[in-house]
Amino acid sequence: MRLVVAVTGASGSIYAKNFLEAAKSHGIETHLIVTEAGKTVVRHELGDVEQITALADFTYEPQDLEAPLASGSFRVDGMVIVPATMKTVAALAHGYNSNLVTRAADVHLKERRPLVVVPRETPLHAVHLENMARLSRLGAVILPAMPGFYHHPESVDDLASFISGKILDQLAVPNKLYRRWGEP
Ligand SMILES: Cc1cc2nc3c(=O)[nH]c(=O)nc-3n(C[C@H](O)[C@H](O)[C@H](O)COP(=O)(O)O)c2cc1C
Repeated sequence: MRLVVAVTGASGSIYAKNFLEAAKSHGIETHLIVTEAGKTVVRHELGDVEQITALADFTYEPQDLEAPLASGSFRVDGMVIVPATMKTVAALAHGYNSNLVTRAADVHLKERRPLVVVPRETPLHAVHLENMARLSRLGAVILPAMPGFYHHPESVDDLASFISGKILDQLAVPNKLYRRWGEP
C-alpha cells in the first residue's frame, strides 16, 4: 500500500510520529509532506523535524507543486492529514489548492480516493464545523484527534496509537494498535 501523509501546523505532532511508525510497521510506503507551520510545531513539540521525516519513505516540500503527488495520474491508495489545521481544512473545503498538501488532498477528493483528515483544534466555531461538514459530504473521513479511554490507555503513546489504529481501520489495514471493545 502507498499512502500520502501530510503533517500540518496543528498541535499533536505525536499523532503524526505515531502514525508514521505504525505505517512503517505495517509495510505501508509513505510519501510525506510537512507544511512550514507543521515544521514549526514539530520542532516545538518534538524538538526536530527529522523525528518525522526519518520515518517516511519519500518526503516533499509543501511548495513543490510539480511533485508526482500533485497529479491524479500518480497511483496512491489514500491520503491522511495528521494533524490537520483549521486553515488546511478550510482550504480543502473550498478547493483552494495553494500548496502540495491541499493539491494532493484535492486530487484524492476528485479521484474519489480515501482521504482521512485528523483535525485538531478546540473549541470549534461554526465555520470550522461547516468546513468539516463540507469535507465529509465530499467523501473525506473526518477523524478528530479525540482518543477514547475505554481501552485504558497508560501512556501518551497509547492515546496516539488509538488514533493511528482508527486511521488504519478507515484504510482497511488490519491492525492491533488499540484494544477493541469486546475483544480481550
Ligand atoms: C505551537 C502552535 C500550535 C498550533 N496549534 C494549532 C492547532 O491545534 N490547530 C490549528 O488549527 N492551528 C494551530 N496553529 C496555527 C497554525 O499553525 C496556522 O494556522 C498555520 O497557518 C497553519 O498552516 P498549515 O495548515 O499550512 O500548516 C498552531 C500554531 C502554533 C505555532
